[in-house]
Amino acid sequence: MTSRLFEPLTLRGTTFPNRIWLAPMCQYSAVDGVPNDWHLVHLGARASGGFGLVIAEASAVVPEGRISAQDTGIWSDEQAVAWRRIVDFVHERGTLAGIQLAHAGRKASTHGPWSGGTGSLPVPDGGWPTVAPSDSAFPGYRAPVAMTTAQIAELPGAFAAAATRADAAGFDVVELHAAHGYLLHEFLSPLSNERTDEYGGSLENRARLLIEVVDAVRAAWPQDKALFVRFSATDWVDGGLTVAEVTEVAKDLAAHGVDLVDVSTGGNAPAAIPIGPGYQVPAARAVREGSGLPVGAVGLITTAHQAEQILVDGAADVVLLARAALRDPMWPLRAAHELGVDPDRAPWPKQYTRGAWR
Ligand SMILES: Cc1cc2nc3c(=O)[nH]c(=O)nc-3n(C[C@H](O)[C@H](O)[C@H](O)COP(=O)(O)O)c2cc1C
Repeated sequence: MTSRLFEPLTLRGTTFPNRIWLAPMCQYSAVDGVPNDWHLVHLGARASGGFGLVIAEASAVVPEGRISAQDTGIWSDEQAVAWRRIVDFVHERGTLAGIQLAHAGRKASTHGPWSGGTGSLPVPDGGWPTVAPSDSAFPGYRAPVAMTTAQIAELPGAFAAAATRADAAGFDVVELHAAHGYLLHEFLSPLSNERTDEYGGSLENRARLLIEVVDAVRAAWPQDKALFVRFSATDWVDGGLTVAEVTEVAKDLAAHGVDLVDVSTGGNAPAAIPIGPGYQVPAARAVREGSGLPVGAVGLITTAHQAEQILVDGAADVVLLARAALRDPMWPLRAAHELGVDPDRAPWPKQYTRGAWR
């Protein structure tokens, strides 16, 4: 049997071997932003498990853009060299490698998730002052300092330098993190952007920084390599960012050289989110239909048949998995087996082909 999940997808000069991709997931396991053996095995295991693309976690473009002190980064050459070893292993498995470029804005400088603390890490304990479009805090976090236009002007260059390092590390894809209440999302959302200058107010103004970052990254990132943006398509709050607004921005981004939009939701404000199987898929479909760009769907996609149906229905071009892949790094191979995909059409490593048969 054939399966949409195992059909290749070409974006620019890059052909993805299948449409089951690993979503970016912070591992909170780096020292000084440098990825290590944990990241090699985390991403390497999932490459061996048949994911067509693995996207490395939100990696900070400047040190103060880390969510926690344990985040990975891509602001230094030492980090790029460490990423290279991981990317090479992923490539040997026949999987492509992406990296999510990030700045955490007002949600930076937090406790690590298993450190016992929650919310902001105080500066005397190793935290750092946070910056954001405005000085309003994410509930429960320390208040950020509103960025000056001079500080904003440094961001496109920081993202572009990170993209240059990502290229040197061999990555095939760069994804800009404009979701989950981090800096680029904070600019997009009226809930966190109260600016009265050219970076606040109208949708055009709120999207200005994102477009400047896209332009800078596109100029630094090779023309044959794909550029993605991850959005939170809705804040799930009245008065917040909406699917219609994000669709408008996505339409613009197509003209600025973005190749795919990864559609997530939420994270910029406490909200009642109707969480359930595939709960973000309708947002992905809306952005796909309204922008004309290829999209990825993510969020509680857990079974092979569910994932296959999302593609068959035309709601998305690819699916991204996070927590299901933490439970099962071999998820794509198991899905191929369950769907009865011809072993020659599924990404079995030669060492594991016996698993393709009963
Ligand atoms: C441990 C963990 C870390 C995550 N880190 C990131 C991240 O670095 N960047 C990001 O955009 N989303 C991150 N997410 C969100 C996932 O990429 C994904 O969008 C979300 O978990 C929903 O998909 P799922 O239902 O398949 O888990 C993380 C999720 C988990 C569980």
